[in-house]
Amino acid sequence: TFLGIDIGTSGVKALLINEGGTIIGEATAAAREPVRPHPGWSEQDPADWWSATLATVDALSKTNAEALANVRGIGLSGHMHGATLLDKGDAVLRPAILWNDGRSSAQCTEMEAALPELRALAGNIAMPGFTAPKIAWVRENEPAIFDRIAKVLLPKAYVRLLLCGEYVEDMSDAAGTLWLDVARRDWSDALLGVTGLDRSHMPRLVEGTEVAGKLKPELASRWGMHGEVVIAGGAGDNAASACGIGAVRLGEGFVSLGTSGVLFVSNDKFRPNTEGAVHAFCHAIPNTWHQMGVILSATDSLNWLAKLTGQNAAQLAGTAEARFTGPGEEIFLPYLSGERTPHNNANARGSFVGLSHLSDPARLAQAVMEGVSFAFRDCQRVLSDAGTKIDRLLAVGGGSKSALWLKMLATNLDMEIALPEDGDFGGALGAARLGLCAATGADPQSVMTMPKIKTLIAPDKSLSTVYADQYARYRALYPAIEEAIS
Ligand code: XUL
Repeated sequence: TFLGIDIGTSGVKALLINEGGTIIGEATAAAREPVRPHPGWSEQDPADWWSATLATVDALSKTNAEALANVRGIGLSGHMHGATLLDKGDAVLRPAILWNDGRSSAQCTEMEAALPELRALAGNIAMPGFTAPKIAWVRENEPAIFDRIAKVLLPKAYVRLLLCGEYVEDMSDAAGTLWLDVARRDWSDALLGVTGLDRSHMPRLVEGTEVAGKLKPELASRWGMHGEVVIAGGAGDNAASACGIGAVRLGEGFVSLGTSGVLFVSNDKFRPNTEGAVHAFCHAIPNTWHQMGVILSATDSLNWLAKLTGQNAAQLAGTAEARFTGPGEEIFLPYLSGERTPHNNANARGSFVGLSHLSDPARLAQAVMEGVSFAFRDCQRVLSDAGTKIDRLLAVGGGSKSALWLKMLATNLDMEIALPEDGDFGGALGAARLGLCAATGADPQSVMTMPKIKTLIAPDKSLSTVYADQYARYRALYPAIEEAIS
């Protein structure tokens, strides 16, 4: 059997699969919410990731003892970009600065000025979500901590260090640091130099399907595992989800309606489009890349409105669906925590326009769901500017439970969206599959299969024109009010 561990911002999920790839057990443990010491900041204690990891695997050792005893490979998936700073004794120097932390805008500008070829090398704009600008911030604002940095690890590499005692990172997650030469799949001395670091501060690089290390004997015996257990390179959570839903070939992608929103597509080559703030990263499979548009508040926007109106998000979406007749008057810009694609502006803020006496929670909920759908339409636009055609799109994430939301998305993206049958096919499954590849040498293409599809959601052609008009109004809003909301 093989174990996948997904280290998420809100908790950890561990999942077991057998040789045939069937899920045979899973366990979850919540992590403490990220702390926001200042507006736009987001931090978490790495110790929480480790205790939640131990809790999930300990739970499996009670519910699935026999299967766990036979584990041969472990794969890891993790939330991307988080800067975990270690001193030379591996002690954590400060709380990790997370992917949704926007404090380092000024450092991004400084880094691009200091190294004009930064975008060409990294294939990405310096965005505050990425790891390197966070270190530039620490260097400027917490120099005593910066001086003690011996290693910078991403969240799942920190968990890996505790599992196997080695500093190792996979290509897909490493691509989100802004220190990787993404085309060459190697650290870049020039990019590292901009933040005052060198290769000695970096973990060793492996492909997601390669062996990164071996599980420590004391952990193997804690979980009753007899044989040798290898730890795979694994993947950043988006590439891992792609492995979980079988999006590893050219043009295969997914749209994730989670806390953040992701439009992900696999590429056969490295295809950057820095102008549109497209993320162009390595995939977890050798010699494969992917692009994605990332929006920072997807279901988070509806959750925010739910909290504000004292209802729950599913209720709000349900009422909006029952009353839906087409786009309303209200328009929502979902930039509650700034935006990456297409604006790259951590200081952007959300906005409602077109309010009237008729605006009630259900109408606002519809506008929120539409605003998020338009944000995905923006992502699709900049991906196609980069020459990308999406051939197949699966919907994942909590928001995909809403039929109305999926219909809005399909209509706005003007393509069919496939909704998988209920089940688990996220980062933890992708990670377990990478663990299987590393332990057995199996061909990733045959392991990363697509789940069974429950429904195909087709665009509603009768709404295409009204949505095209509403999208045009949405697009005009950001430049019109950018100064007021940034
Ligand atoms: C991707 C990103 C998020 C996190 C969420 O660039 O920042 O999707 O990976 O865990």
